[in-house]
Amino acid sequence: MAEGTHVLDKPPPGAAADWTIPQNWAHYTREEHETWDKLFERQAKLLPGRASEAYLRGLDVLKLSKPGIPDFEELSERLMKLTGWQVVAVPGLVPDEVFFDHMANRRFVAGNFIRRPDQLDYLQEPDVFHDVFGHVPMLADPVFADYLAAYGRGGLRAMEYDALKYLGRLYWYTVEFGLIEEADGLRIYGSGIVSSFAESRFALDDPSPNRIRFDLARVMRTQYRIDDFQQNYFVIPSFDELLRVTVETDFAPLYRAIGGKPDIQIGHIMPDDSVITTGTQEYARSRRGEQQAVLA
Ligand code: PHE
Ligand code: FE
Repeated sequence: MAEGTHVLDKPPPGAAADWTIPQNWAHYTREEHETWDKLFERQAKLLPGRASEAYLRGLDVLKLSKPGIPDFEELSERLMKLTGWQVVAVPGLVPDEVFFDHMANRRFVAGNFIRRPDQLDYLQEPDVFHDVFGHVPMLADPVFADYLAAYGRGGLRAMEYDALKYLGRLYWYTVEFGLIEEADGLRIYGSGIVSSFAESRFALDDPSPNRIRFDLARVMRTQYRIDDFQQNYFVIPSFDELLRVTVETDFAPLYRAIGGKPDIQIGHIMPDDSVITTGTQEYARSRRGEQQAVLA
């Protein structure tokens, strides 16, 4: 999913120096392939009319509907021809600089394990379904492919400025939970939404969350929750515009400026926001008390 807190500081036994491990495709059990198929079928039915054109095109051109967990080698071959990206397996979370370095070099790091059959609806750590079904179709889009590679380079740079907290929020609110405004209305493209049965409806249809037009500095100041549906979604006008604004902006002065300002709390609307939907926050209210928010 996103870069986060990392447990290990050197590659575990069996991993290469760059932290990659073999996907071991031949070792998946029938039950594991069936879990993928079940998840795939459920989401593929839900996404037309909800997911962005670019995402749906990616799903199609990468032939992800082929039954069973995709073989990373086969997938990488298709992806490489389209946008120069590859998919490589890693053992869970890797150190930030490893994550960014792979990304800057157009290698998308993915988990190779799949959730258990009793975890179809929710899983905290990113498995192969989230990573491949959620992220990889967008990498078939040339503009988004450039965005993610630029993000990787930006990550290495943000480490020098000690600004990962801010850059990580950009990832969260675009790559993981982004919405886009298309001719026919809002669509989802964030991997955390498209790979979730419940949130792929919630993000578009529920009256609870705010939907706010994307603004780079605003997003970087905004806290997020990692344990439940989002209370804010940020809406980009196009992938071209997302790429343009992030590549053309020098983040160093932005990090400095934001560093002097307080965080914006989740669910909060700012006077300068260009709001598409003001959420009722009803869902968040109903969940409060049930559980404590985990903020990042
Ligand atoms: N322009 C950013 C910087 O100066 C780099 C970047 C590009 C970050 C695209 C994210 C996405 O650091
Ligand atoms: Fe993810």
